[in-house]
Amino acid sequence: MSKTTMESDKLDMKTDKISSIEPIEKPETGLKTVMRLENLTKKFGNFVAVNNINIEVHEGETIGLIGPNGAGKTTTIKLIAKLIRPTSGEILVLNKAGKLQSLNGDDKDLVKFGFLIDQPFFYDMTAYQILRYFARSQNYPKKKINARLDELLKLFKLADWKHQKVKTFSKGMRQKMGIIQSILVDPQIIILDEPQTGLDPKARLEIRVTIRELQHQGKTIFVASHMLHEISEVCDKIALINNGRIIAFDTIENLEKNLKEKELNCQLLYPIPTSDIEGTINRLNDKLIQYVNHFMEVSTADHNHGVKYNPENQTFKIYYDGKKESRGEILEIFIAEFKSNNKIISFSQPKTSKLEQIYLEMIQMDEPRDGGG
Ligand SMILES: Nc1ncnc2c1ncn2[C@@H]1O[C@H](COP(=O)(O)OP(=O)(O)OP(=O)(O)O)[C@@H](O)[C@H]1O
Ligand SMILES: [Mg+2]
Repeated sequence: MSKTTMESDKLDMKTDKISSIEPIEKPETGLKTVMRLENLTKKFGNFVAVNNINIEVHEGETIGLIGPNGAGKTTTIKLIAKLIRPTSGEILVLNKAGKLQSLNGDDKDLVKFGFLIDQPFFYDMTAYQILRYFARSQNYPKKKINARLDELLKLFKLADWKHQKVKTFSKGMRQKMGIIQSILVDPQIIILDEPQTGLDPKARLEIRVTIRELQHQGKTIFVASHMLHEISEVCDKIALINNGRIIAFDTIENLEKNLKEKELNCQLLYPIPTSDIEGTINRLNDKLIQYVNHFMEVSTADHNHGVKYNPENQTFKIYYDGKKESRGEILEIFIAEFKSNNKIISFSQPKTSKLEQIYLEMIQMDEPRDGGG
C-alpha cells in the first residue's frame, strides 16, 4: 500500500471530490462473480425487511447499496455477515477453488470477508491493543501483526495515537478504527455499512480516498449508504434499495441516461384547479398507458405513476418509453387535454438529470413494502 495516498494532496476540499487518485480502468469482459445475492428475503414476523433481492458482485467492483433510512441496507449486510439468517433465498460467495458456494454451510473455504457494521464499538483499550485482539481472533500470523498494524495506523494517520485509549478518540477516529478492523486481515471482499456516518466533510472525503485505495489493491467492495451523492463517486454500480426491494441496479451512467432519455416535461400556462388535479392525472394516465415507462421495469403494471404534476410550476413530468413516436403521441394527447381551457407553453426533454433527483423520484414512486411498517 502506498504510504502517500492518504496525504491531503489527494483531497480537493473545494470541490469535495477526490482529485488525484484515478479510478481504475476495469476490463468489461471476463468478470468473475465473487458474491451473488439470490432472491434474498428477510422477514421479521410479517414485516418484510429485505424483499427478494438479486445482486451480482464481480471481482474488483465497488457496489453502492443506496437507500433511505429503514430501506433494508443493514439487514442485507447482516445477512451477508451471517449475523442473521435469511427467511428465504441464498447468498453465494466465491470459494478458494474458484466456485460459488452457498453461505449456508461451512465457510472455511470461502474467500475472506471484512465487515464494518453499524457504529463500531470499542472498549477501554488502546488502539493497538484492540486491533491486536481483532487480528489474533481472526488468526492473522502472529509475527506479522505489529507490522500490519503500523502500516494501517500510519495510512489512517492514527500512528501517533496507537497507545491512546480508543474511548478518548473522536467519532471520525473511531470510524477509521472500524475500517482498519474491517481490512486488517487483508480480506478480498470488504463490506462497509455507512462508513461515513457521523463524520465531517473532510473525514468523509478521507473515507472515499480510502475506498479508492482499496480499489487499487483489487478489493471487491460493497458499501451501504443513504448518502447517494457522497458515495456514488467511488462506486462502479449502484443498487438503489427502498422498502426492502432493489428498485434499480446499474452503473450511474446508465441510470442517468435512462432517466434523461425517458422523461418529458410539459408546462402549462395556467395552474390546474386543485379539485381537478386528480381527475386530470387519472385521465392522462389512462390515455398515456401504452407510452408510459413503468419505471425501469421494476414497478408493477397497475402502478399509476407515469405522469406527475407539480402545481408550483404547472408542470407535468411524464416517464415514457423513450421512443420518438411516443413523444409525438404524448404531445398530441396533452394538446387535446388542455386545448379548451389552458395552453401548453413548453414540452421538452430535460437536458440534465441529477442522480440525486433519480434517487428521490424513484423512492417517491415506489410502492410501500409488504407486511406494513
Ligand atoms: N431485528 C429486527 N426486528 C424487527 N424489525 C427489524 C429488525 N431489524 C431491522 N428491522 C426493520 O427492518 C427495516 C430495515 O432496517 P435496516 O436496519 O436494514 O435499514 P437501513 O436501510 O440500514 O436503514 P438506516 O439507513 O437507518 O441504517 C426497518 O424498518 C427496521 O425497523
Ligand atoms: Mg443501516
